Amino acid sequence: MVGIAVLGAGRIGKIHAANVAANPSARLIAVADPYASAAQSLAGSLGADAMTDCEAAIDRNDVDAIIIGTPTDTHIQLMMRAVRQGKAVLCEKPIDLDILKSQAAVDEIEGLKGRVMLAFNRRFDTTFAAMKLAIDAGAIGDVRQVIITSRDPGLAPEEYIRHSGGIFRDMTIHDLDLGRWLLGEEPVELIAMGSRLVDAAMLSKYDDYDTAMVQMKTASGTQCHVNNCRHAVYGYDQRVEVFGSKGMLAQDNQRASSLRISNHEFTDAHGPLLNFFLERYQQAYKSELDAFIDALVKEKAMPVTPRDGLRALQLAEGAVESVRSGRAVPV
Ligand SMILES: NC(=O)c1ccc[n+]([C@@H]2O[C@H](COP(=O)([O-])OP(=O)(O)OC[C@H]3O[C@@H](n4cnc5c(N)ncnc54)[C@H](O)[C@@H]3O)[C@@H](O)[C@H]2O)c1
Repeated sequence: MVGIAVLGAGRIGKIHAANVAANPSARLIAVADPYASAAQSLAGSLGADAMTDCEAAIDRNDVDAIIIGTPTDTHIQLMMRAVRQGKAVLCEKPIDLDILKSQAAVDEIEGLKGRVMLAFNRRFDTTFAAMKLAIDAGAIGDVRQVIITSRDPGLAPEEYIRHSGGIFRDMTIHDLDLGRWLLGEEPVELIAMGSRLVDAAMLSKYDDYDTAMVQMKTASGTQCHVNNCRHAVYGYDQRVEVFGSKGMLAQDNQRASSLRISNHEFTDAHGPLLNFFLERYQQAYKSELDAFIDALVKEKAMPVTPRDGLRALQLAEGAVESVRSGRAVPV
């Protein structure tokens, strides 16, 4: 049994804590959050200890591993405290907002042979994982283009946007990781565009955007296109297409049911899309935790490394630079 403390009792912390509590190979020891009521309500519902001091939770003798679901600017400090004690870490994306700090942390983790996994949950979605397997098995020949559409159902609250690090580091980073994983080759050049079409007044206060496009190219010329928007009226839109020399892979958005209705108004109309990431990636978060625990128990390499986290952050930084300069940038 792996003793786990979940740090952060917010949106993502709730998911991780419930998955740990339900996992037969893990024991949820504690939930820590500086807001006592948040820690108590989550820990209480899952039979774990509630703590307000995240560092004290890391230091507990019965804690073997931590899951970091706290605000992004706290990730590295908490992660390094655990790694220096030889404890394992599943860290939410992004690794941090600062590239130099992230670089130093990743170098130290590698030097210490720390067991750290970055929580890029989309790699564990059944459909995207099947895409990767099909690509690696040669089902569509050589990959030529990866096209990723990722649109949120609604703009996050201003308080979240203020601390998010901007759309590229917060939202696009998932797609940048998914894109380089599916391409199977490192991007070397990137061009990005950002617009404020949803709430220009709010986003301009933080020099941020709500609508973005990124294009990446690898050394061999394969391409990836990512498009994001913080607000799609029809719901959480998550689509990926991979085009290759011998075919194409594509998937559909997920819905609560596959029922279709046809009547005098519609033909083949579907019910709404799954609401947001908590619903759409419910299975992926569970599989991500399974993969983390499996790597720990069987002493295997982590399936997503801190260097993957650093690389995705570098691509996000490249996107910010490209939007500012209006030019393609080497990445
Ligand atoms: N992989 C995913 O799909 C996914 C989805 C959402 C969020 N995230 C990431 O998870 C992290 C948390 O996001 P969220 O949406 O759950 O945020 P949230 O605001 O809902 O929750 C964060 C929690 O951290 C607590 N907190 C605040 N300051 C703290 C501090 N200094 N130390 C420790 N805890 C503190 C808050 O009380 C809150 O309960 C972010 O890094 C975000 O990028 C990942």
